[in-house]
Amino acid sequence: MSRLTLARSAGFCYGVRRAVTMAEEAAQSGRPCVMLGHIIHNGSVIEQLEKAGVQVVHSVEEVPTGAAVIIRSHGEGRAVYERLQERGAEIIDTTCPNVSHIHRLVSQAEEEGRIPVIIGTPTHPEVEAIAGWCRNPVVLSGPDALENWLREHPELRTQPITMVSQTTSTQKKWNLCVEKAKKECTNLKIFDTICNATCKRQSEAQELAAQNDAMIVIGGRDSSNTRRLTELCAALCPTVCWIERAEELEPSNLYGKASIGITAGASTPGWIIKEVYDKMSAENMEIEESFAEMLEKSI
Ligand code: F3S
Repeated sequence: MSRLTLARSAGFCYGVRRAVTMAEEAAQSGRPCVMLGHIIHNGSVIEQLEKAGVQVVHSVEEVPTGAAVIIRSHGEGRAVYERLQERGAEIIDTTCPNVSHIHRLVSQAEEEGRIPVIIGTPTHPEVEAIAGWCRNPVVLSGPDALENWLREHPELRTQPITMVSQTTSTQKKWNLCVEKAKKECTNLKIFDTICNATCKRQSEAQELAAQNDAMIVIGGRDSSNTRRLTELCAALCPTVCWIERAEELEPSNLYGKASIGITAGASTPGWIIKEVYDKMSAENMEIEESFAEMLEKSI
């Protein structure tokens, strides 16, 4: 018999819940609409929306005439909005308000003649979208990249710089960047734009990983925040299973584990967490009293 505990923060964050609700409402309205790219990083949710009639298109040119366009929670660059407006498309903007806030910060920084420096993964859609609100963005993956950039451009140390972070960066990476930038740059504005929901989810996952014999991390393979949760758990717990759906879970891998923690990425819907819960319950697990309450909150 194993004891099963669910992280309080498992599953949809506020921004993802808002995006999915807006897309579902658009689908129910019956008017033609498409999503421009996957609105969140979860294949099962996208599949459900497609079944409800909202198809995925990958470029503005593919948007059918007369269709409303759902902009994904990670946001898009300014040029995408302009091209959609030129085509007269109705925009349903599910960009997380925390991300829109960063768009405003970098765009205003450039208007004031400052250099926007974005700390984040250059290929992440959120970072690409933030960069898309600047004419000359500088995207740096972390403290080493920042150091190299300042070494290659020593003249910029006295220039006005505004530094922001990808919402899902780690606090450790950001703090190192801030420390370095403060030491080297003389005209610096810093905005800590890391999302609290991410910090909370990561620290709860680490807490659970340290207390349990095994961890199950639920989330899409293309979800970088789920990947990060898995890495953090693996550093503290000997057995970590990253699954996208319940059917991938092999209970025999968990036999003999006295305690098992479960967490889920920000794009994982509650119904998938419930599927995992049902599968584990069927295996005669002892469920923590708070589990049902947590599960209800995440659905
Ligand atoms: Fe928004 Fe934070 Fe979620 S930025 S999409 S609430 S992880």
